[in-house]
Amino acid sequence: MDSTTSHQALDDTDPVTTGAEHRRGPFKPGDQVQLTDAKGRMSTITLQPGKQYHTHKGAFDHDELIGSPEGVVVKTSGGNEYLALRPLLADFVLSMPRGAAVVYPKDAGQIVQMADIFPGARVVEAGVGSGALTCSLLRAVGDTGMVHSYERREEFAEIAAKNVRSFFGTEHPAWQLTIGDLAEKLADDEVDRVVLDMLAPWDCVDAVAEALVPGGVVCCYVATTTQLSRTVETLRAHGAFTEPQPWESMVRGWHVEGLAVRPDHRMIGHTGFLVTARRLADGVTPPVRRRRPSKGSYAADYLAEGSTPAAGPAADPEFNEDGTVTSSVPRRVLP
Ligand SMILES: C[S@@+](CC[C@H](N)C(=O)[O-])C[C@H]1O[C@@H](n2cnc3c(N)ncnc32)[C@H](O)[C@@H]1O
Repeated sequence: MDSTTSHQALDDTDPVTTGAEHRRGPFKPGDQVQLTDAKGRMSTITLQPGKQYHTHKGAFDHDELIGSPEGVVVKTSGGNEYLALRPLLADFVLSMPRGAAVVYPKDAGQIVQMADIFPGARVVEAGVGSGALTCSLLRAVGDTGMVHSYERREEFAEIAAKNVRSFFGTEHPAWQLTIGDLAEKLADDEVDRVVLDMLAPWDCVDAVAEALVPGGVVCCYVATTTQLSRTVETLRAHGAFTEPQPWESMVRGWHVEGLAVRPDHRMIGHTGFLVTARRLADGVTPPVRRRRPSKGSYAADYLAEGSTPAAGPAADPEFNEDGTVTSSVPRRVLP
């Protein structure tokens, strides 16, 4: 195919995905604009005809930006310059009003990818908190999907509803919001994906198993190792899910300037842990994974004398032929 004809221009008859009209083209009234000054300080305004933006060094008219392309520089009457760009979703969630802590963009990206949120998917989310993750989920499912968010605190649900509306510039046709505890209120069935960001996701595992289709994905985001452990063990013991897959992601920025090319000194060290598992078909027991432990993974100093490594004997001089630990190896015996 000729690369010049592979993308067709939008015309007025093309259906526009919700929110897309606020993300491209010349600035319009109602658009959000992120202003960045020479020191990198940012502020966000919503464009309104006839309004002014005031700083300690004079003001400029919003009308100067309306009709101009993104990426222009605007100057106040006192000579301060600001670069004007629409905020990206990652910028928006970090600057929007918050009730509860938000899912950081690096984790929202992981969730959309690893929970496999696809266009048209039916997704359940709890809690909605400030609505940060909701925006990513809605973007991923698109106008023809469904995101049903449950939040037990009304005041957070109100903040989330304002944030989601503000990000898309209108109500999103794929979004439903229910106030209440997911474990009691979850009434959806045939759900493709469930994302839980809450203190006690293990309390919701029964309800999630009821709602998910076979093959559906549950993804939990928790802040601490104790929550991670309980979430994984609850999913594992439930019987309706595949072996849970836990992980965390770390993102490190880099300083690149001339010969000084190195990792940033500061980074966000910890946000949370993620776990995914898939819904099995009803009545199915997955095949037990038989795998010899890799050499040294059950080293003798981590096992009591006479005990057997969980997955059978390894070809390791520290093990007897029957898989028990040899007595000749000096070891730290666990209680
Ligand atoms: C950390 S916040 C969620 C933040 C949100 N994901 C975001 O990105 O903005 C956790 C929220 O879960 C809510 N919550 C906790 N347990 C819940 C449950 N069982 N059902 C519904 N909401 C719940 C809390 O009220 C809180 O608002």
